[in-house]
Amino acid sequence: SGDGSGAAGGGSRVCFSGVEILAPMVRASTLALRLECLRYGADLVFGEEIIDKKLIGAARVENSAFGTVDFVSPREKVLIFATSKEERSRVFFQMGTADAALATQAAMLVARDVRGIDVNMGCPKSFSVKGGMGAALLSTPEVASDILRALRRNLPESCALTCKIRMLETTAKTRDFMQLCEKSGAEAVTVHCRTRDERPAEPAHWDEIMRLWDAVKVPVICNGDFFTRRQIDEFWKFCHGAGAADGAAAGEKAGPSGIMIARGALWNPSIFCRDASVVPSFEDMVRNYVRAAVRANSTYQNCKWVLSQMLAGGVGVTAPNEFVGVPTKAFNRQLSTMKSMGAICEKLGIPHDAASFPQQAHMTTYYRGWEPLD
Ligand code: FNR
Repeated sequence: SGDGSGAAGGGSRVCFSGVEILAPMVRASTLALRLECLRYGADLVFGEEIIDKKLIGAARVENSAFGTVDFVSPREKVLIFATSKEERSRVFFQMGTADAALATQAAMLVARDVRGIDVNMGCPKSFSVKGGMGAALLSTPEVASDILRALRRNLPESCALTCKIRMLETTAKTRDFMQLCEKSGAEAVTVHCRTRDERPAEPAHWDEIMRLWDAVKVPVICNGDFFTRRQIDEFWKFCHGAGAADGAAAGEKAGPSGIMIARGALWNPSIFCRDASVVPSFEDMVRNYVRAAVRANSTYQNCKWVLSQMLAGGVGVTAPNEFVGVPTKAFNRQLSTMKSMGAICEKLGIPHDAASFPQQAHMTTYYRGWEPLD
């Protein structure tokens, strides 16, 4: 399997062969979840989509207490993006953009702190599409191409460039669009195997990836509907049965290169454990996440939201019916009343005194929603 870090740093290419990737998810793919996914075995992690204009003007702050690099909007003191050394060689910053100049200006701010930049070309939300961003780029290929070309021209060589698209109306159109991305400088293309109008509850079209992967020479990543290890194994079997040549092991392209997981990883980040013997219990997985959230300086609001997804997202699928002795759905309701990281730790039986989390003494206060631990 691949090591997404490649030979970290330098001008080296990212290795996408056999990779399993945490998908970009607004509110979910923040630092704590990304680090947990990496610790369980994810090869690469993508941050939540951040709009170019939101990042432009942010101050870069080295937060020595937490070991993070924080990008903070100076006026409202809001944390826009935080990253750390642990993920440096494996994190992609995902950008929402409709403009090559703004995209470049924003990307240059974070380019030396991340492994790569990913352009969101798939978000169907009206907020994105009305602004010409996300899935709107699928129908304005000249703008999509401009953005990628400008980024590739300006980014340091050490910074990779990728994009994430959805399926277009026909296979031929999707292939054309993928080729445009490749020609414009994308080093890998992720295909969310749904069209712009398909909802998350509708099944992803894995069969389509077999008609797409050979449209380009660069690696193709398949996204959509990976919720368990068994499904991941089934997917690779399906690919080989459907005609992907053997040779992935030799590093040569033969079928899709890797997979990207969104909801399956939000509900259960240990989905990335390839070794069944090290899969934690659900309760340990949740506690590990909360500890990571405290250490990563997460806001309690963000931590609560991610927890609520873990608890509700998969009840009966990934989450058990009972959690720390309480019916999981009831626990999720109790969660809504908690107003600090301390309260969350307390509820889960996680020690949260200064000795357990020495960073807390140095907690920075420039974030909206910041609450002291106790
Ligand atoms: C998403 N998705 C998404 N995609 C993207 O390119 N940028 C983003 O910021 C987000 N945000 C986001 C938030 C949440 C809560 C969800 C559930 C999804 C889409 C996501 O990356 C992925 O393409 C789809 O969810 C399909 O993958 P799964 O969920 O079937 O693994």
